[in-house]
Amino acid sequence: MGGNSFVVVANRLPVDLDKDGNWQPSPGGLVTALSPVLMQHQGCWVGWPGMPDSDLEPFRTEDGILLHPVSLSQSDYELFYEGFSNATLWPLYHDLIVPPEFHRHWWEAYREVNLKFAEAVSNVSDQGATVWVQDYQLQLVPGILRQIRPDLKIGFFLHIPFPGAELYRQLPWREEIMRGLLGADVIGFHSVDNAKNFLALSEQIAGAAGSHIGQPDELETSGTPSIREITAWVTAPDGRSVGVAAFPISIDSQAVAKLAERPTDLKARLGNKTLILGVDRLDYTKGILQRLLAFEELLASGAISPQDVVFVQIATPSRERIDHYRKTRSEVEAAVGRINGLYGEVGAPVVHYIHRSVSKDILMGYYAAADVMLVTPFKDGMNLVAKEYVACHQDSGALVLSEFAGAAVELTEAYLTNPHDLESIKRQLHAAITDVESDSEDARQRMQLLHAQVMEHDVNLWATSFLNSLEKHR
Ligand code: ADP
Ligand code: F6P
Repeated sequence: MGGNSFVVVANRLPVDLDKDGNWQPSPGGLVTALSPVLMQHQGCWVGWPGMPDSDLEPFRTEDGILLHPVSLSQSDYELFYEGFSNATLWPLYHDLIVPPEFHRHWWEAYREVNLKFAEAVSNVSDQGATVWVQDYQLQLVPGILRQIRPDLKIGFFLHIPFPGAELYRQLPWREEIMRGLLGADVIGFHSVDNAKNFLALSEQIAGAAGSHIGQPDELETSGTPSIREITAWVTAPDGRSVGVAAFPISIDSQAVAKLAERPTDLKARLGNKTLILGVDRLDYTKGILQRLLAFEELLASGAISPQDVVFVQIATPSRERIDHYRKTRSEVEAAVGRINGLYGEVGAPVVHYIHRSVSKDILMGYYAAADVMLVTPFKDGMNLVAKEYVACHQDSGALVLSEFAGAAVELTEAYLTNPHDLESIKRQLHAAITDVESDSEDARQRMQLLHAQVMEHDVNLWATSFLNSLEKHR
């Protein structure tokens, strides 16, 4: 079939079918980052339409992206998506915040579904096409494509953290996954630390197959903003050299900043109080409960008053049938209820909780209105929410950011916090509130630096860096 010279493959398409058969934007940072890139390249996107057992023909979006739906059965959904992807790999790659489960039948499903995605890509790709494989759900796809379509240029980008070798080696199928990844020409990670973890592991595991590591120390790139280049190589078992580097993902900063210029009456509707905001998928990695507990303790101690502050938490439903997600949701909702019961008034809750997706322009209105943004993941590959908030603020507001979000490497002027330490969240949240309420010059300067960082290092720089590296390497 062919017909496409630039193909992106990800578990999800950029749009999801809902229960009523309507298309909605898909959740998550991957879609936020890749959508503008695909629009620019007028590329083809291979992925799952978000509803099991839906058999759909290819179609083009209004933005000109050609979508090739891959059908997953109910059993694929349970074993590949909920099971191996999100109850084995997700917790393992996020440093065991909850214990990963290892089941052989989940692994079998992961292999079969990766084969299905690889075949779909092979069918739509022209001779010599560039194929960009995305994320942890599809780590076997580069290796399969290398075998069935050796003519393709294959890139792989991981959107979540890559763990240290000590943790990774727990995985019973570690060799197979490493070999799958090494089918790519270039493998990209968010951070230098993640890339180093991968290099160390490929030495340990692929070392047995006679592989050789490049120069991990040269992973540090210098000069900003600049197109990043490959800085280390590893020799795959078949003798090819595979480029490995850090390419920190970002957002369409100009577009986000523009949306935030629209006037909003949100602050007035919330009583013109100091507005604290959280925006996340409802995921146990995001530390939503911890930030609520920190807020509650500040209220309890009298350090902040319900007369002066209000907290809005927007939490998109995510992976709702998986046990740890259910538990996290009930803990978050119990905390919201308790805090409002203790400190809210009729018609004036102190925490507003929105458990649904909202449109981009409404979301940007929240960012623009928020005085303090709370981003407190225990572990996060990058966290685009932090960058979106910063793009919406030239010199106002404050970002409280977890040290364990990939974004902390670049957003060093944020109020950095350790989410495992409630006192640390309280300290930084209180400092941020005090600084914005007093219109501190220091807080203004910090936001100016953060804003400049995000405006310069946008998603276009990320995609260009990766795709140039792939082009050159071949
Ligand atoms: P992750 O990829 O783990 O979900 P990120 O912070 O990197 O985390 O990306 C989340 C993306 O999803 C951001 O672009 C953010 O704007 C979007 N998002 C999060 N919550 C909502 C929501 N309730 N409604 C709409 N978009 C949301
Ligand atoms: O960026 C992490 C990520 O898991 C993406 O791979 C995924 O598309 C997104 O978050 C949302 O998760 P899900 O596809 O499981 O709803």
